[in-house]
Amino acid sequence: MTDKNIIHMDMGAMVGDNPSDKRALLCLGIESSCDETSAAIVDSNRNILSHIIYSQIPEHQKYGGVVPELAARAHILAIDQVIQQTLDRAGKTIDDIDVIAATAGPGLIGGVLVGWMAATGIAQATGKPLVAVNHLEGHALVPRLHASSANGADGQTNVEFPYLLMLASGGHCQILLVRGVGQYELIGQTLDDSAGEAFDKVAKMLGLGYPGGPIVDKCAQSGNPKAFAFPRPLCDKPGCDFSFSGIKTAARTFLDKNNTPHDDAFINDFCASFQASVVDCITNRLNNAMNDERIKNALPKTLVVAGGVAKNSAIRSALEKLAHKHNMTFAAPPMNLCTDNGAMIAWAGIENYRIGRVVKSPIAPRPRWPLTEM
Ligand code: KG4
Ligand code: ZN
Repeated sequence: MTDKNIIHMDMGAMVGDNPSDKRALLCLGIESSCDETSAAIVDSNRNILSHIIYSQIPEHQKYGGVVPELAARAHILAIDQVIQQTLDRAGKTIDDIDVIAATAGPGLIGGVLVGWMAATGIAQATGKPLVAVNHLEGHALVPRLHASSANGADGQTNVEFPYLLMLASGGHCQILLVRGVGQYELIGQTLDDSAGEAFDKVAKMLGLGYPGGPIVDKCAQSGNPKAFAFPRPLCDKPGCDFSFSGIKTAARTFLDKNNTPHDDAFINDFCASFQASVVDCITNRLNNAMNDERIKNALPKTLVVAGGVAKNSAIRSALEKLAHKHNMTFAAPPMNLCTDNGAMIAWAGIENYRIGRVVKSPIAPRPRWPLTEM
């Protein structure tokens, strides 16, 4: 584990309601389902006491994506130090912690096992309660820990149930009605690729590196979104499902036909046009969801976007506009809580612990674990 991979989160913007409340629960959360080994200590008053993310991106970059075996090995090498540093930076020892929480799926099972077994070991050795967190629930609930506006400014808190959630990450793309902790109703989902996957694949085609989302987002900011006509799959059809593979194929076909070296202006326009089609698809499907009887009857007050793709500036501002059109408020996690992180797992640990959802006997982590099977 090298220092260059470690992101110490800035705690300055992360102070919650009542930092001085001595009765607050302290949860140690551990995340290891993909290519970040992360741990955080979060309290029930929404303070993040410490947060360490050890990013493996440099290790996977030369392969153009995450290599599961390398990820599992890197998690094993990093996990003990990440947990110890998280405790040290909070000025705590394991005795001060009330609850241990770790991702128990879904994700790359080799990595999930590393974090889950570390958490199980700590819980067994100390006799402390253990929460098996669904990684997707971590993304889904983190806006209740900290939420920010479209431009990333922290400030809004108290995202209350029920809310309408656009969950867009590297592995998932779903619209959900979040009725409460553990209560998720699936409204729509992708029929093929996730939005994050589409970003990553288009970036790879352009030779822009991994992960593609942030690079495409940055290039798109200098490009013309109308330069290329990408399709908007399913947007002429009713319903709330997505399809992104057609957009990716259109990109591949165009690049194959125009196989010349591409200058920056071309790349920026290509990224902006691709991103515009993803934004239109997400907006169209969410608009249908907001007009769906299930949503109208549930009366959610907030539209929330979460998951790694929620970092995307164009998606955040389009969804903020859409929320206002439907008289809803908009919330997204602050940028550093969108991609995988230990704080969201610690917070989901607190939310689950409060309603008694703790592990009573040993469980096996799950590579697949839909939010509708909680
Ligand atoms: O939630 P996450 O960290 O991991 C999973 O649970 O899958 O999401 C990672 C995904 C990647 O596909 C990455 O390209 C995408 O989030 N992503 C973005 C941006 N930042 C990260 N996609 C679009 N725009 C961004 N700014
Ligand atoms: Zn994730």
